[in-house]
Amino acid sequence: MALLELQGVSRHFGGVRAIDGLDLEVREGEILGLIGPNGSGKSTAVNVITGLYPPSAGRIAFDGRDITAAATHRRLSEGIARTFQNIRLFGGLTVWQNLWVAQNSARDRAARGFLSRWMGGQSGAREGIGKLLAFAGLAGREDELASNLAFGEQRRLEFARALAAKPKLLLLDEPAAGMNAGEIADLDERIRAVRERGVTVLLIEHHMELVMAVTDRVAVLNFGQKIAEGTPAQIQAHSAVRKAYLGGDH
Ligand SMILES: Nc1ncnc2c1ncn2[C@@H]1O[C@H](COP(=O)(O)OP(=O)(O)O)[C@@H](O)[C@H]1O
Ligand SMILES: [Mg+2]
Repeated sequence: MALLELQGVSRHFGGVRAIDGLDLEVREGEILGLIGPNGSGKSTAVNVITGLYPPSAGRIAFDGRDITAAATHRRLSEGIARTFQNIRLFGGLTVWQNLWVAQNSARDRAARGFLSRWMGGQSGAREGIGKLLAFAGLAGREDELASNLAFGEQRRLEFARALAAKPKLLLLDEPAAGMNAGEIADLDERIRAVRERGVTVLLIEHHMELVMAVTDRVAVLNFGQKIAEGTPAQIQAHSAVRKAYLGGDH
């Protein structure tokens, strides 16, 4: 079943067709890779899915509901969370506070009212944050300011912060950028662990080894359009994909 479905989605910036008539389906429980050269529209797709930019045309459905015009905060509370290509944390807040804010902004959706959250939610929140800290390899660092963390740690915190919102769909925009081989191996494990807990993942990534290792399917963008879609093996063998990446006839 499609958890997320884009139908004919376009987003233009002046004369630039950042994404152009994109049909994309993210199936419940899968890890879908989204790849393409720089400027092919990958981040714009994430920005349109999360509601940062309204689409110029097309329709977006999530979990059976039309969210084309829904506000960003509503999409978050419906279960769409993301990380950014350029890390965006609250640098002046601690590690703990970054997670706490994220957990509370989307917490328990409509199931709990403000009062019960206020009265009874505190110990549960603490426990949840403890688990996220362990997951992100940041146990013991909770009082550190986010801005004082090393780059790889900031990426892990951002990943954990997205999970704090308890998403159904996690959008990761180039999470391996700037990481070393060891950090990428850890990231690979984290992505798999998240999926095992039932979260669907859309992974945007340039690091092909990671994409080919961890995804179930891959979609390829070029100039805002989807030029191929298939299993990692099919995509590696696809001539249009090789052409988009390498130029010339391959
Ligand atoms: N906010 C924006 N304003 C103007 N142009 C943008 C904006 N965001 C993206 N673009 C343009 O849209 C195209 C796709 O960009 P982007 O989605 O960032 O690609 P990718 O993530 O695949 O590298 C590029 O030509 C980029 O310059
Ligand atoms: Mg990008």
